[in-house]
Amino acid sequence: MGKLNNKVALITGGNSGIGLATAELFVSEGAKVAITGRDENTLKDSASKIGSDTLAIKADVLNLSSLDHAYQQVETKMGKIDVLVVNAGIFKGAPLGDFSEELFDEIVDINFKGTFFTVKKALPYLNDGASIVITGSAAAEVGVENASVYSASKAAVRALARNFSADLLSRKIRVNVLSPGHVETPIHERLGLSPEQIKGLREELASGVPVKRVGTAEEMAKGYLFLASDDSSFVLGAEIVMDGGWSQL
Ligand SMILES: NC(=O)c1ccc[n+]([C@@H]2O[C@H](COP(=O)([O-])OP(=O)(O)OC[C@H]3O[C@@H](n4cnc5c(N)ncnc54)[C@H](OP(=O)(O)O)[C@@H]3O)[C@@H](O)[C@H]2O)c1
Repeated sequence: MGKLNNKVALITGGNSGIGLATAELFVSEGAKVAITGRDENTLKDSASKIGSDTLAIKADVLNLSSLDHAYQQVETKMGKIDVLVVNAGIFKGAPLGDFSEELFDEIVDINFKGTFFTVKKALPYLNDGASIVITGSAAAEVGVENASVYSASKAAVRALARNFSADLLSRKIRVNVLSPGHVETPIHERLGLSPEQIKGLREELASGVPVKRVGTAEEMAKGYLFLASDDSSFVLGAEIVMDGGWSQL
């Protein structure tokens, strides 16, 4: 018996990194999984990696009507949603003095506004008793150079989870946050660095973590499984930080 037997789960950003590992674990626990993302190639490749029944839908959270389309497709092909993982997000930063309005808007529009409307637009498509898990970041707990807007966007989604849980109490929908620390995913490959620079960055990040390593997407997936399943039936408006102690020690 899997922990998510016959549950319908939608994972935004399920075609890469943490979302992909979470989709694979959810399927192994009996869930029917739909994933969204922007990149058609990785959507297709990830869906076949996750399992042949996986529904892959192209949906950019910057285009709010694409969310309506994604939810309609999931309902038609799989039914109402029991688990919504709101995970699509970007990491970008710049020195404070160079921070452009365009960069500010891009980060806030995807990480904060995108999260808000992914949940808001999901409401007609969610079963009562559903679990929503939002991806935050341990970066919201610390002060990091060049990352003020990213960290603030993740602090914002932490606040959303508390308030959404209050809004959705009557439907018994729980909303929680999983906040990863430094995790080895394609997020670092999107920074425009060479392979050597990426390796150096990960070594530098690991050196600042109390357990002296970065995390894996598979480790994060176990946290999402806990928050998605009935194992966390008494947990709402809460945050689980999975960061090797980086923001806590
Ligand atoms: N890795 C870390 O160290 C770390 C730490 C703390 C928090 N996080 C958070 O964890 C989440 C997943 O990150 P990851 O590490 O797995 O990185 P990743 O491999 O780069 O995955 C990011 C995912 O978000 C999707 N995405 C980005 N912008 C989108 C948009 N506008 N519309 C729809 N989908 C969009 C991407 O889809 P496409 O590939 O199709 O663009 C991709 O599936 C993010 O919210 C990130 O902020 C990561």
